Amino acid sequence: MLSVALPKGRLGEKVYEMFARAGYECPELLAPGRRLVFENEEAGIRYFWVKPSDVAIYVERGAADIGVAGKDILLEYAPNVYELMDLKTGACRMAVAAPKGFSDEGIRTLRVATKFTNIAREYYAGLGRDIDIIHLNGSIELAPILGLSDVIVDIVETGATLRENGLEVVSTITPISARLIANKASYKFKRDEIVKLQRAFSEEGSNA
Ligand code: PRP
Repeated sequence: MLSVALPKGRLGEKVYEMFARAGYECPELLAPGRRLVFENEEAGIRYFWVKPSDVAIYVERGAADIGVAGKDILLEYAPNVYELMDLKTGACRMAVAAPKGFSDEGIRTLRVATKFTNIAREYYAGLGRDIDIIHLNGSIELAPILGLSDVIVDIVETGATLRENGLEVVSTITPISARLIANKASYKFKRDEIVKLQRAFSEEGSNA
């Protein structure tokens, strides 16, 4: 039995369809309700709906053999897992954004609001720019509007949130997409099953 931590939400549903096409169906998973654990004994698979930012923790600690996590989470938390493949879905980018017309004169410490403090720290360290990190848990776009920060480091997908709040991308830090990850011990002991799944995903990708 292979256990899979799926990120709750739109990305998770899309990724589940990939699993289903690969032969690991479990239709009740998409039924409305509050259940979190689903199993298809015949197909040898058990799914958990997990908060997207928690997927890597379940996998790292072996509560799930494999999971699907955004590259943003893997960069931010550097979990001790294997990153097996890019699922080429959930594409977006990690970017610096600021109110339209903002330019960093580099004179005083730059105030950066973000959920991704490690990514932001590393990015600005690479530029040799002195920053003050303001850690927020959501609605990051508010920070520069209210003068809480100069810029934000956040995920940009369509750009609608930035546009509707008078912000724009200043620079792109890195492209992001969903990754298949595996617990290190599971990859050793359930290698055949995991490799089989990886193959099915790769074939699907090359047929797409
Ligand atoms: C993310 C991100 C932006 C938004 C970007 O937020 O933090 O706010 O999506 O998407 P867009 O470019 O398509 O507008 P999310 O919905 O994950 O919620 P959050 O505010 O909790 O981070």
